[in-house]
Amino acid sequence: MKPEILQICPLSPQVEAALEAAHAVHRYWQAPDRPALLLACGAGVRAVATDGHHGVPPDAMAALPGLAMVASYGVGYDGIDVAACKARGIRVSNTPDVLNDAVAELAVGLMHALVRRIPQADAFVRAGRWRGGTFPLTAELTGAHVGILGLGRIGKEIARRLQASKMRVSYHGRHAQPHEPYVYYPDLVAMARDVDWLVAVAPGDASTRGIVSREVLAALGPRGSFVNVGRGSVVDEPAMVELLVAGRLGGAALDVFADEPNVPEALLGLPNVVLSPHQGSATEKTRAAMGELVVRNLAAFFAGEPLPSPVV
Ligand code: NAP
Ligand code: 8YV
Repeated sequence: MKPEILQICPLSPQVEAALEAAHAVHRYWQAPDRPALLLACGAGVRAVATDGHHGVPPDAMAALPGLAMVASYGVGYDGIDVAACKARGIRVSNTPDVLNDAVAELAVGLMHALVRRIPQADAFVRAGRWRGGTFPLTAELTGAHVGILGLGRIGKEIARRLQASKMRVSYHGRHAQPHEPYVYYPDLVAMARDVDWLVAVAPGDASTRGIVSREVLAALGPRGSFVNVGRGSVVDEPAMVELLVAGRLGGAALDVFADEPNVPEALLGLPNVVLSPHQGSATEKTRAAMGELVVRNLAAFFAGEPLPSPVV
């Protein structure tokens, strides 16, 4: 008999097919009567498949006495109450590393789009305006100084790519990483003051909430640009919008927002902003690898083996 799992949210068709192949899957988000579904799951369901945004809803946590495993699709797990899982002895897994390249690629792509005004240049050509004159000159990445907030697995891939773009790379985190070839700033405001670009790729948790504060953004200043591929919660979003509108922050390239999929209205008309709908890991290859890791974590759990990528 296939083990039963509860799937909390939609995942990609390939992942869902792989989950179906190995498990009897109950679909939480599609259930017309969730209490009835959870009652039917009862003690039979020992594992949940979810992502880092949806986590495990409190009603599901409460209704599954046998829950012992939460397999999450994504590396960030800010939507999962890990402390509550730990307290109940529930294992949690995520999907680190397999998405580093895709997220780094998008971060660098957003920077190129912002600095070389690629969306505007594309619109310029499409609108037939080239015949009327040349597109305005832009700045460039080459020679600029970038500070990375969160020199972790993805941050290191971004740093490597930006070094290849002939940028000077610095970073801020809670710890210096002496073996990395970049300058460490223990103080985020000081780094923001010195750099041309600030790239945030830190996790969304209590320790990072709002650390890209008004003060940090003001230190980045009218000639500075902010890039966020980490989590929307890391930045004081209202302050960021206000400073962008006032020209006191030069530009922003954003893949993540405080209240996705809602994007502050004021950003939509700004020419100094590039917007992306949380696409960091959204390539076919990377999403397949993430899905495979979810399935492998579940298989290891049901086989009583060590999890390939445990959070706890
Ligand atoms: P990681 O390897 O754990 O790296 C996180 C980095 O953030 C570490 O270098 C850590 O350095 C730093 N950090 C953590 N807390 C901090 C704090 N309070 N202040 C300053 N720095 C802090 O994580 P990762 O795999 O690179 O993923 C990073 C995040 O990217 C994920 O958690 C997720 O939110 C986001 N993400 C977004 C997308 C997307 O689609 N846009 C896709 C994947 C991931 P220290 O320990 O030295 O502080
Ligand atoms: C999303 C991400 O999780 O891994 C992360 O932390 O932000 C992304 O990869 C992805 O959209 C799946 O929900």
